Amino acid sequence: MKFPFLTLTRGCETFYRFQQRGVLLADQRLWSSALKHSSQLCKNKSFYITTPIFYVNASPHLGHLYSAVIADCLHRWKLMQGFDSRFATGTDEHGLKIQQAAEAVGKDSLTFCTEVSERFRNLFSSCNISFTDYIRTTEQRHRRAVEHFWSVLWNKGLIYKGSYEGWYSTQDESFLMPSQVGEALDPSGKEVKVSLESGHKVEWMKEENYMFRLSIFRSRLLDWLVKNPGAVQPERFQQAVVQWLQEDLPDLSVSRQRSRLQWGVPVPGDPEQTIYVWLDALVNYLTVVGYPEIHEQWWSAAHHVIGKDILKFHAIYWPAFLLGVGLPLPKVIHVHSHWTVEGRKMSKSLGNVVDPVENSQMFTNDGMRYFLLRQGVPDSDCDYTHDKVIKLLNTELADSLGGLLNRCTAPALNPAQIYPAFCSQAFPRDQRGRAVAEDYQMVAAVRGLPTVVEKHYESIHVYKALEAISACVRQTNRFIQRHAPWKLDRRDSKDRRWLDAIIHVSLECLRIYGTLLQPVVPEISNRLLTRLGVQPHERSWKNLDFLQRYHGTDCPFEGRLLGLDSRLLFSRLEGQNGDKQKPKKSKKPACLK
Ligand code: MSP
Repeated sequence: MKFPFLTLTRGCETFYRFQQRGVLLADQRLWSSALKHSSQLCKNKSFYITTPIFYVNASPHLGHLYSAVIADCLHRWKLMQGFDSRFATGTDEHGLKIQQAAEAVGKDSLTFCTEVSERFRNLFSSCNISFTDYIRTTEQRHRRAVEHFWSVLWNKGLIYKGSYEGWYSTQDESFLMPSQVGEALDPSGKEVKVSLESGHKVEWMKEENYMFRLSIFRSRLLDWLVKNPGAVQPERFQQAVVQWLQEDLPDLSVSRQRSRLQWGVPVPGDPEQTIYVWLDALVNYLTVVGYPEIHEQWWSAAHHVIGKDILKFHAIYWPAFLLGVGLPLPKVIHVHSHWTVEGRKMSKSLGNVVDPVENSQMFTNDGMRYFLLRQGVPDSDCDYTHDKVIKLLNTELADSLGGLLNRCTAPALNPAQIYPAFCSQAFPRDQRGRAVAEDYQMVAAVRGLPTVVEKHYESIHVYKALEAISACVRQTNRFIQRHAPWKLDRRDSKDRRWLDAIIHVSLECLRIYGTLLQPVVPEISNRLLTRLGVQPHERSWKNLDFLQRYHGTDCPFEGRLLGLDSRLLFSRLEGQNGDKQKPKKSKKPACLK
């Protein structure tokens, strides 16, 4: 079988943790105080979410940002719901490929790792990735955790000295069975062996090292998956793991000879061997929560977000190691698919790697976050083009959501610049007022929206949540269009009450949309809610009661002054032909229609 040869890899504490380790977010103070209250209400609800730690052999790309944005969205969502959430990300710095990458540029390994690790950290900070811990595998705290973890496995007789002979992919830092290896041509036309899964070159390796008794864990792993149907999500990935476990599961080599690999943690008691980089890397999830010291509260609430290419490591090796040391298994492994670019895999050799820093500048941080989460489907690969980004953001953020806000806050319609009163005679529950059937349908849809969104956020099908929000935004725009409030006469008391009710209902809709969108577009949501006069402590899950006056209770927002910032929520982007464009400068909204 021939494969195109690709030379490059695809690659209960309180809220203050949010602010740890230099993460300074534009919306941070508001977000923090908004959620503190609900966090205090739910002291026992711990949540721990992780991204994979990123290899530092190359700069961050769009796929890396995607993993981080998904995890960030879930973390923010859990905070909104009153959970005490921790969110870890960081960099994977040991192993042969990092050693080789540092050698190739003539830098000592640690200096090289520090430079690239900083690039990841800066990207995440600038894109509002609100991590509470940034781990580097070269840190001392991590080395201690890895040494301890190894020693427990060793003392339990789960590691033995043996030898490995077989295929190894340095790019994937992975051992492969003969059935996983194929042939391909390298750029010079030479035939080489490659991993069928990743397309990366493999080499025959034969050396003495330590082996982990992976084979004895097969039935326990299967048992775990049978008893926990949602352990790996989406379901198709859980099925893939079950399938793998039904095939051969040989013991796993967990060290390399020091003479070949110096850049890593030495095996405790045997300095001639270096611990396998994947064992080293996976333990980061424990290091962050304090292992080997107290870690139970957080570890029992662990959720991992990973890309599909590293499923085997997380859903077979990692649980087997954890069973070996006697620790609970992660609650959920959330798997996402990959981004291609104009139909092709992202790769340096094809020159199509999408730079997330450049793109976030072009389309704004929130613009990029919205695009990735609105278009990214966990179950299947998605294709990236600039045109798609521009089209989506213009339609949904600038025109639909931004347009709706403009209409309801325009001085011509809302001269007092307030959250006007709701009139239950104009919009009565018995449907005998001026409201029509479609209006009642919209009210029902928006009322049910938080439940729909919750379900999709929880399963990281964020695109479905955004689809539902977007459909409601369109309904609200149609509501305004249908009743054309600009045609009503404020001097007529009946008209005025109806006009105010229309604006009240629309602002209520916007409040629900802005609140639900916080995990996805934190800056835009903050601007939207501030404009509506919604205070930071009124933006959590328990504030999602919609249209209270219609449902017969008081509305705390009625009569409030709107916020003063009347800039456009999201400026339209130019360059539908894929030209690189900055968002147009914000200007005052024109007016209605
Ligand atoms: N270092 C390991 C992870 C160790 S975790 C204990 C690693 N690093 S990576 O930098 O190669 O990849 C990190 C994440 O980026 C993975 O989740 C991977 O799936 C994701 N992506 C890499 N390329 C991607 C795309 N083209 N699209 C989407 N995500 C992709 O693996």
